Amino acid sequence: MTGSILSAFNIIVGICTFIFPVRALDNGLALTPTMGWLHWERFMCNTDCDADPHNCISEKLYMEMADAMVKDGWKDAGYEYVCIDDCWPSRDRDSEGRLQADPKRFPGGIKKLADYMHSKGLKLGIYADVGTMTCAGYPGSLGHYDTDAQTFAEWGVDLLKFDGCNMPNWTLLAGGYINMSVALNKTGRSILYSCEWPLYEWQFHQPNYTAIRQTCNHWRNSADVFDSWSSVTGIVDWTADHQDLIVPVAGPGGWNDPDMLVIGNFGLSRDQQETQMALWAIMAAPLLMSNDLRAIDPQSQRLLQNRHIIAISQDPLGKQGTRKAKVNGFEVWQRPLSTGGLALAVTNRQEIGGPRHFPLTLATVLVWRSCYHQCNVTQILPQYRELGVQNLFSKLQLSVNPTGTTLLLLSPVPAMSCTRLQAKKWLRYLSKDRAQRTAL
Ligand code: GLA
Repeated sequence: MTGSILSAFNIIVGICTFIFPVRALDNGLALTPTMGWLHWERFMCNTDCDADPHNCISEKLYMEMADAMVKDGWKDAGYEYVCIDDCWPSRDRDSEGRLQADPKRFPGGIKKLADYMHSKGLKLGIYADVGTMTCAGYPGSLGHYDTDAQTFAEWGVDLLKFDGCNMPNWTLLAGGYINMSVALNKTGRSILYSCEWPLYEWQFHQPNYTAIRQTCNHWRNSADVFDSWSSVTGIVDWTADHQDLIVPVAGPGGWNDPDMLVIGNFGLSRDQQETQMALWAIMAAPLLMSNDLRAIDPQSQRLLQNRHIIAISQDPLGKQGTRKAKVNGFEVWQRPLSTGGLALAVTNRQEIGGPRHFPLTLATVLVWRSCYHQCNVTQILPQYRELGVQNLFSKLQLSVNPTGTTLLLLSPVPAMSCTRLQAKKWLRYLSKDRAQRTAL
């Protein structure tokens, strides 16, 4: 795109943004964060099916994952999409210019795989790239957006992860992502659109999140997740540092995507797995697991299928939570819920020592906004515990393991009249300086 056309495009986007409030991509999908499984972090680009038939990228892998999803309660817990990542296609397009699956690894083709998923009540996701080649060097979609969207629709694909490698010029990224969104829409099939547009644009300038929300159902902002605590905290810190920019655009139909859940693999301790699960729910993130569901340990399975955490993730209000405080090596995160209550996570970011106490007075985290003067408090992590009805001045002593998280659910108790004493305390509290109130 030439400079003048590009600036005209930016002016039009700017004017539209001013006139119309931020609206989501209008395809009726992802009204709550997407749940499913995605192969990349765990299985990467393992294409050697002779040496490693059990773990290579082949139709067998996705069929076995689908079988496990149905058999072991994943589908019942809400996980629905089985998603292919990079390295599925042949190195060449077919004679009519269409993408084709590697015939040796996908002898039945993608359509058969999609039919298989649908027969089990699941959905199939596929991967492509906005540029000339995928990140692993397979054919990209640049110049083929309509053909590829049509091919995916004919195969019965339900989700497209669209990567951003190998774009000849970064100024083409926005147009590429928008054109693919339009192409998907034109097929008439409901295909959830997962983008990496902002991740690739951040290297050059601050992305236009209004345009991104109008184009994609979720979008990756930050680096690829690895199976390690430093990777998970790197993503969490990035999200918190940019929350003023990215949280307001998230909501039903469009979500910030901090990348896959790596729970059930090798790199995270039990506490760290709980932290990832709790914070992904608070961040209203897609819950796309990348692990081996055929051989996952029961503890990780219980965590990933925890219905209380999934209920927070899928809360219909669809408001992404934020980091509210950072104090003494703890972080406090909150997400407002449709009940009028809050999910509250306290993470101990100290990586030395034993469990540490965090004194929580509900008033100090400004729960009064949601819970007025009384809240029913339920601890969800590390163990489920009913902590009963608490008022703003009750003190809860939380004990949080290093790198672990205590996750609480605060639900408003139906209005009751304040006692005189509570009202006095409440007024005294409100008259205090704000800094004093929020000092934890
Ligand atoms: C990029 C993406 C990853 C994965 C790989 C595949 O790095 O960010 O999520 O899709 O490409 O090559």
